[in-house]
Amino acid sequence: LPGNYAGLLRPQVHYSPPVGFMNDPNGMFVDQEGLYHLYYQYNPTEEVAGNVHWGHATSEDLYTWTNQPIALFPGAPGEGIFSGSAVIDVNNTSGFFPNQTNGVVAVYTLNTAEKQTQEIAYSYDNGYSFIKYSGNPVIDSNTTQFRDPKVIWYAPTERWVMVVAYPVDFKVGIFSSPDLKNWTAESNVTHYGITGLQYECPNMVELPVVSENSSLPSTLWALQISINPGAPLGGSIAQYFLGTFNGTHFEALDSTTRLTDFAKDNYAGQYFYNIPADQDQVSINWASNWQYTNIVPTAQEGFRSSMSVPRGHYIADLERVGLSLISYPYNISSIVGNELASNSSLGNGTVVVDYSGVESGALYFEANITNLGDASSLSGTLNFTFLSSATGEYVSGGTFISSGDVWLNRGHTGALSDNPYFTDKFSQTALYDPTIGSWNISGIIDRSIIEVFVNGGVLGATSVFFPTQPLDLMILKVEGVNESATVSVGVWSLRA
Ligand code: FRU
Repeated sequence: LPGNYAGLLRPQVHYSPPVGFMNDPNGMFVDQEGLYHLYYQYNPTEEVAGNVHWGHATSEDLYTWTNQPIALFPGAPGEGIFSGSAVIDVNNTSGFFPNQTNGVVAVYTLNTAEKQTQEIAYSYDNGYSFIKYSGNPVIDSNTTQFRDPKVIWYAPTERWVMVVAYPVDFKVGIFSSPDLKNWTAESNVTHYGITGLQYECPNMVELPVVSENSSLPSTLWALQISINPGAPLGGSIAQYFLGTFNGTHFEALDSTTRLTDFAKDNYAGQYFYNIPADQDQVSINWASNWQYTNIVPTAQEGFRSSMSVPRGHYIADLERVGLSLISYPYNISSIVGNELASNSSLGNGTVVVDYSGVESGALYFEANITNLGDASSLSGTLNFTFLSSATGEYVSGGTFISSGDVWLNRGHTGALSDNPYFTDKFSQTALYDPTIGSWNISGIIDRSIIEVFVNGGVLGATSVFFPTQPLDLMILKVEGVNESATVSVGVWSLRA
């Protein structure tokens, strides 16, 4: 399917479908040549949710995507190929691949009016086309509410492990299998954290704990659960729990609920299968919210929804806050283009960048404030605004250095600003660590989406917005910061 990627609202470094409607990322895996495969919930015929296929795109850098033919089609009217995951069956545990070591198996939910079942399909050609297994379904619980299988290989027991949601029971089922066909129910995680009205798209991933504290384990498991509807800010959001996993049971370290994002457009995230062991785990998230996704104005350009940029992840042990999932824009340096502004000693001052000449309309920016001293001497603000010189519409954000509050405001851009669900302002607080003595804000703006990261990914916010004219002027302003601190800023164009 061809698409028009030239429109005013069309993101350039975030994946969006050629035409039609996209929701959750699905089946993400890295193939044996290092190529990233992204599948997604896809309605190719209309710009609203429904008629679900698995769309497919591939990328070498996770920012520049090539659209591929649709990978999975519903088999009959009324069927939907709902969310799921994919694995590489290197050892042919399934028996589908007697002659190859790069066989791909997709594990997804078949949705019909009668029920939701877990099914599999296999691919001989590295994930470009699939054959549905004749023995489907592989798990049938005779319910209409049972979906979104995410499968990993658990080496210690040499078993495939699936986490899958029983959405209205607020339950995540953990299953195991030797061959991807026969599954055993091992345990359930129920009523963890915020329930909202449904649990969806669970993920389980092992992450390194990066800390000098040698009493901590070297890795922990994160169980991530997406909630919709009923998130604290309305609609959809994702929460995660840190703990241990033994192949059959997940046990959380504590009863703390942590959210992956502090705005409203980061949902149904999935972690890639087969990320090389020497790299951080990487996720991609759907950059929208079920409260308004079906009415956003990008339909005038023939599509709805984009993905977040890829996130790299590890676990850090933060001052007072404790163990936390870090989410930073992964591999962003691969698309950083021209330097538009750079000042290593801005102090209290302003940087203005006219980026009307940047072809992609997409920027990356970073501000570092170092030598801040002890917590009692903190003062000042750092604010940024992206403005349309034609209409005065803008998106802004910033931080109060003394309190650690960080905010984002998308309320001054055209469409949806009167919609009660299209929440205009977001804020969150990060704790200053005097042993580090610095504050860092970075972000990506890409036509109709902004993503902001605090202190290297301690906090993150993903937010869509819909101006009527391009934003083309950036103003970054530092005021009232302690004279002994050093302020450095940089702004770069991004290559589409
Ligand atoms: C989450 C979700 C999943 C489901 C899919 C259907 O956004 O509701 O639970 O599989 O979307 O498209």
